[in-house]
Amino acid sequence: MSMQGNLRINSARLWDSLMEMAKIGATPGGGSNRQTLTDVDREGRALFRRWCEEAGLTVGVDDMGTMFARRPGRNNDLAPVATGSHLDTQPTGGKFDGVLGVLAGLEVVRTLNELGIITERPIEVINWTNEEGCRFGPAMLASGVFAGTHPRDWALARKDATGVSFGEALTGGGFIGDEKAGARKLHAYVELHIEQGPILEMEGCEIGVVTTGQGFRWFDVEIKGRDSHTGATPMARRFDALLGASRIVERVHQIALAHPNSVGTVGFMEVSPNSRNVIPGLVKFTVDFRHVDGDALAAMAELFIKDSQTIAAAQGLEIVIDPAGAQPPVHFNPEICQLIRTASDESGYKHRDIASGAGHDAFHIAKVAPAAMIFCPCVDGLSHNEAETIFPEWAKAGADVLLQTLVTLARG
Ligand code: HGY
Ligand code: MN
Ligand code: MN
Repeated sequence: MSMQGNLRINSARLWDSLMEMAKIGATPGGGSNRQTLTDVDREGRALFRRWCEEAGLTVGVDDMGTMFARRPGRNNDLAPVATGSHLDTQPTGGKFDGVLGVLAGLEVVRTLNELGIITERPIEVINWTNEEGCRFGPAMLASGVFAGTHPRDWALARKDATGVSFGEALTGGGFIGDEKAGARKLHAYVELHIEQGPILEMEGCEIGVVTTGQGFRWFDVEIKGRDSHTGATPMARRFDALLGASRIVERVHQIALAHPNSVGTVGFMEVSPNSRNVIPGLVKFTVDFRHVDGDALAAMAELFIKDSQTIAAAQGLEIVIDPAGAQPPVHFNPEICQLIRTASDESGYKHRDIASGAGHDAFHIAKVAPAAMIFCPCVDGLSHNEAETIFPEWAKAGADVLLQTLVTLARG
């Protein structure tokens, strides 16, 4: 299928919008802290809404707070072609993770407006709520409800570290919309995202054609021992929850090393009472396993649960392991992947097929619509770090290919 190789976005306008958005929740280290359903998230959403309305889009919001900015087509009875990503960030996130996908979608619209191009199908630019999953686990929560992966009530009941539920933050913060998540039908979905890994930059590729994505298994773990005096409690009489947790952290690491091409991480830990002369009686932490092979991922999760219970029992500790999200490996739509390759070739961008290590909203949307992803490189493959950065040329390459792919899909 021949593409519109001559269509190009306005690189300076896209970059200016990225830098403008980065001012909201800017961190001293040059990154972003716009955690989901916070005041700064609201500020970022308001800016996005203003830009969308200035571009003639109508913005709808569903009951997960997800924003859908719609550009009419010639035939508005047809299901839209959608793009987008997320504006929420990690606490010490970068300026481009998620944001590039949302603002590149807006740039596609701005370019079509400028060129006076009306597509047969409507186009929608989406900002998914709580993609990061750092405040409320798991990641990609709202897109998971949209796709039917998570029950609505389960999602609304997810709590942050202070005990606030996702539902309370949604309604209390005025983020909730009047649409039912999942009611909108999508003809196709294409998401642009930074790679968050080193391969594209190392190989000098401007475009990654994402064909697959790792599955993941997340757990919330609570270990209970007994607070007691660090000086007066003999070693043989301790119920040291932090010692147990530390042994399980090491076991998570070993399980990942024992399963090639997998990853295993403990990223969050809360120690109570966290006092230098009290043996910790309570430790809460998270576990994140990922693998592109679903069977290996299941085996890793099973091994982790069994070994953690053995470690806790050996020290007389109580352990509670709660599943906090599961996502099978994803295979994206081959036809759309081919459109991305053709658009890259016609635009003169070097591309390669690639698997996604990180999770993305497209993983869920692939369950309800033909979906695919476009990656652009990021410097040193660094992400979820304030120093995350890309070059304007990389943003442009990704957005050019997104524009051409969306226009082809929106032909009707
Ligand atoms: O966890 C992830 O893969 C995504 O960055 N939220
Ligand atoms: Mn992301
Ligand atoms: Mn992220």
